[in-house]
Amino acid sequence: MFKGKDIVSIKELSKEEINRIFEVAEEMIPIAKGEKKSNILQGYVLATLFFEPSTRTRLSFETAMQRLGGSVIGFTNPKATSISKGETLADTISIVDLYSDVIVIRHPFEGSARLAAEFAEHPVINAGDGAGQHPTQTLLDLFTVVREFGEIKGLNVALIGDLKYGRTVHSLAYILSCLDANLYLVSPSLLRMPKHIIRELKNKPVETDNLEEILDEIDVFYVTRIQKERFPDPTEYRKVAGTYRITRKLLSKAKKNSIVMHPLPRVDEISPEVDHLPNARYFQQAFNGVPIRMALLALVLGVI
Ligand code: NCD
Repeated sequence: MFKGKDIVSIKELSKEEINRIFEVAEEMIPIAKGEKKSNILQGYVLATLFFEPSTRTRLSFETAMQRLGGSVIGFTNPKATSISKGETLADTISIVDLYSDVIVIRHPFEGSARLAAEFAEHPVINAGDGAGQHPTQTLLDLFTVVREFGEIKGLNVALIGDLKYGRTVHSLAYILSCLDANLYLVSPSLLRMPKHIIRELKNKPVETDNLEEILDEIDVFYVTRIQKERFPDPTEYRKVAGTYRITRKLLSKAKKNSIVMHPLPRVDEISPEVDHLPNARYFQQAFNGVPIRMALLALVLGVI
């Protein structure tokens, strides 16, 4: 059911497919940690096309491919490619498609991954398209929550920070609401979740700009960076920069078993003192990107 499938939006994955990805990811954990060896992707080539900066997404895709015996080609600086000579995205994709078996793309424009999927015969995986979607991040986020709490239904999840431009929360809000979590959308009024995303949610979320007011109800604090690079006007950015900060003091008023997540990179949203608290899950979350991406690569390449 997965072979050849494009992963462009989380909306295109059924609950059964997500469960299958998680089942495979679970088996991949020892290989992701380097404790077990595997060569199931030997002879396959992954192309990673990064038109925007990335650390975790690109490196975890690369390590996922290599830990399974596959190899990687790609670029992180489009200026060093023929795109700087005026080549279109469609042409670039058509060519890379001839050189590889699966393509991962990150691009500043919404809809770019969809376009790439139309031009490529091989599967295309969206690693973030502007403020649009980031489905592999959503899968690893959800995997982290499921491994922690088991059941999503009834869980109180706060999405905090830049809900307007942050693509990770756009995909995540959708899937959490499908699975009957209770959503709390915490943002400055300038950075509220876009209406078209709220309209698609199954249950009405709580919207607030006041984190303190809901603190003791929350099971999962999903904190995000203010997406400076997507602000049309830098003075608008300055108005909202540093609005929320998760500190040890703040968490002392939260539920004991609550966890703190962040897709990373963080700027100043989570104080480093939180890293050593039992609530911190963001490093574990970043690691989970490896087994999740291993599972996706193996599934879309049809080797399992
Ligand atoms: C996120 C992204 O690129 O959307 N990073 C990531 O993939 N882990 C979040 C961000 O840049 O703030």
